[in-house]
Amino acid sequence: MNGSDWECMRKYVQKNGRSMFITSMDQIEKQILLELDNAFEYQKKTSAEQQDFNFTLRKILFNINHVFAFGKRFEGSDEDLEVFIDVLYGTSSGSAPCRLYPDWIWKLLDKHGFDEFERKQQLHHKQVLSLRDYIDKHIKTGASNYSRTQAVETRLDLYLRAVGDDTLGSHAEETMHAFLSSSLRAGTNFTYAKLVKCIWYLQEYPDIQKKCRDIVYQVCGNNPVKWSDRAAMLYLEAFSMEVSRMNSEVVGIFAIENQQETSLLGYTIPKNCAIRCYMHSAHMDSKYWAEPTVFNPNRHLSDGKLKLNPAYNPFGLGPRMCIAQKEMNYVQFLVFANLLQRYTFEKEDFTGEESFESAAEMFLNRPLPFKTKVTPLTGLDQSEYH
Ligand code: HEM
Repeated sequence: MNGSDWECMRKYVQKNGRSMFITSMDQIEKQILLELDNAFEYQKKTSAEQQDFNFTLRKILFNINHVFAFGKRFEGSDEDLEVFIDVLYGTSSGSAPCRLYPDWIWKLLDKHGFDEFERKQQLHHKQVLSLRDYIDKHIKTGASNYSRTQAVETRLDLYLRAVGDDTLGSHAEETMHAFLSSSLRAGTNFTYAKLVKCIWYLQEYPDIQKKCRDIVYQVCGNNPVKWSDRAAMLYLEAFSMEVSRMNSEVVGIFAIENQQETSLLGYTIPKNCAIRCYMHSAHMDSKYWAEPTVFNPNRHLSDGKLKLNPAYNPFGLGPRMCIAQKEMNYVQFLVFANLLQRYTFEKEDFTGEESFESAAEMFLNRPLPFKTKVTPLTGLDQSEYH
């Protein structure tokens, strides 16, 4: 696809996706609260040993994104849901950096590592194909019921409208398919990585956790947290920004190839290079951040308002920046604030400081497994905050 085709599709998705999102914001808010309430009831009923909160969180996010994409949710007990969530999680993994030198060198140096990489790549490939089949199935059913006069309510509607639009050129189908797929993958997996990391930092810094929860109760009491409450909870936003600064969901942008030789800060970049920008280095640059290795949400606030630092870029920067940033901030805030109101998060092992190690894969900076004791707050506990 050339630059002008890409620009045309990007504008189309941004404009229509945004208006779809704005018209359905209330509906999405209700959906998020429904998923959280369902998960809360399940968590209260299930014994502590049987609980896997990380998986519950993935289910919540998957259902929210599935409703965005196809207008319907899965029941929590559906076995296909569990299998599919695993498949989906696998589609965001892979170990690209090893591809920087030829396979034969790697094979020679580390045969076992190479075989393991190949095995993972094959699994990844299978998972990507399963996701493609799944989306194709939905497109087929959606297309048979779709009318061009109906309102665009889901991302599938957006796909069907674009594919029937002659002004969009020959790449519409391919681009919109990729968009549907990335909306499910990134919407579920990246947001999951972000929220799990929020829990990780909450349990490591119990005072900050308490401060965040106190704010939620001061503003909303036991009522659900809505998007309109966000302005009164900017400390939560600052906390979430600090988590992304220290440990962003995506460490480096997807590779872009320069078609002409260019130069940057005195370095010549020959044409046809694969260029990736490593966002984490900007997030840790002491030119922009005082004591960059210290976790400090207050650095994002000034006079009670959010302070934007030009080096902060978890969604990328410039003309290729993520098109879903606003939606994702919306979902992240609502899920995060409502989780704080419903649960406490504690470290299971109190010895030692957390290293916050993540595995930086092709796209996703995946948190390594860690243990959390999740306790649902009952009405009685919640009223302590009034
Ligand atoms: C927490 C969730 C997400 C994060 C952290 C994230 C982050 C990013 C980043 C870092 C980029 C690369 C920006 C660049 O190259 O400068 C990107 C691009 C992109 N993202 Fe996201 N993303 C998220 C969710 C989503 C979702 C849910 C969708 C789809 C609905 C999406 C669609 C895209 C698209 C289409 C691009 C490529 C834009 C272009 O090249 O013109 N992202 N995202």
